[in-house]
Amino acid sequence: MHNSSRRGFMGKAFGAVAGVGAVGSLVAMKKTWDPLPSVKAAGFTTLDMSIYKENQLVTEKWRGKPIFVLKKTAAMVASQTDEQKERDIVVDGSHFMLAIGLCTHLGCIPAYKGEAEGFLCACHGGKFDWAGVVTQVPPPRGFDIPPFKIDGNKVILGEVGPEYKQMKETGITL
Ligand code: FES
Repeated sequence: MHNSSRRGFMGKAFGAVAGVGAVGSLVAMKKTWDPLPSVKAAGFTTLDMSIYKENQLVTEKWRGKPIFVLKKTAAMVASQTDEQKERDIVVDGSHFMLAIGLCTHLGCIPAYKGEAEGFLCACHGGKFDWAGVVTQVPPPRGFDIPPFKIDGNKVILGEVGPEYKQMKETGITL
């Protein structure tokens, strides 16, 4: 009798400890699932477009991906084909190529070789012009354009503005 009540007590105590442990692990698991505050903030990247210089490629970062920003020269803008023009991002009167800097073939990072040569992907020889249009296969399409919103002289990556929406509807970007 004495033994069995002791066993009952031990059982309850063990159950209580296990219960607390289970709640503790659930809390810990929830913490693991929730994105860190820094990751949440990393969902958006604001670029001040007034700092870029013509024909100088700058690689920014958005959600861990390289973002190519190239401010076009007046000559580039004047000579744009329709295909190049469709991808143009105009901020405060300046024209930009802004795109995810990953080759659309297998994801290598192409190098900018200047206005004449554009971007060269060393992995399998793919090429893109300075507007991000593919000029030599195997890449199946031009550089992908990330969601963006123009706000004055700034561009917010990760937000969807009317210019991006239009690009998406016309099939220029994914
Ligand atoms: S990854 Fe660029 S050409 Fe293959």
